[in-house]
Amino acid sequence: MDGKAEFAFIGRSNVGKSTLINMLTGKKKLAKTSSTPGKTQLINHFEINDEWYLVDLPGYGYAKASKKSRQTWEVFITEYLLHRESLMTTFVLIDARLPPQKIDLEFMNWCGGKGIPFSLVFTKTDKLSSSALQKNLIGYKKEILKYWDELPPVFVTSSQSKFGREPLLNYISEILKAFKAS
Ligand code: GTP
Ligand code: MG
Repeated sequence: MDGKAEFAFIGRSNVGKSTLINMLTGKKKLAKTSSTPGKTQLINHFEINDEWYLVDLPGYGYAKASKKSRQTWEVFITEYLLHRESLMTTFVLIDARLPPQKIDLEFMNWCGGKGIPFSLVFTKTDKLSSSALQKNLIGYKKEILKYWDELPPVFVTSSQSKFGREPLLNYISEILKAFKAS
């Protein structure tokens, strides 16, 4: 690659990574999406302009994935996250409907231990009531604070209603500004 800034999207299979990328870019068919998990199999770079990429990563925790493909995923993604110099930050996507999942917490703890910066992005918030959403968000934050002294940046989104698009894009643009100034 060419050293352009990269922003990666990661999370459990079917959490909505590819759909979020399409929502952010306003291009419905840019990243392939599917109601069956395991759609994204490669590290896909989407060039947004001459400054940066969004990077769609394959999902983890796909129960039907073979052991071999899980290992391949791990090596691939670990290498990418650990050694990609142009990677600015990673967005860890979380299905807002679910209680904290072990696999997500483990992944975040791994990132933290390796000093890989990440933010949390709650997805599919159109699928629950605002009171259920608030309850889940509070529960999630509490869980994270069991491991960490402070919360990472948190974004709350719906790719269906485009809720949360501006704050996420603003955050990316702030990071890009700092990157360019450095
Ligand atoms: P893999 O590539 O398999 O890892 O999945 P992914 O995380 O890229 O998920 P994808 O974007 O393909 O979305 C999975 C399913 O969730 C699709 O049927 C999407 O339409 C649906 N979906 C994603 N985001 C939202 C959302 O914000 N709201 C609703 N209602 N559905 C969503
Ligand atoms: Mg995908």
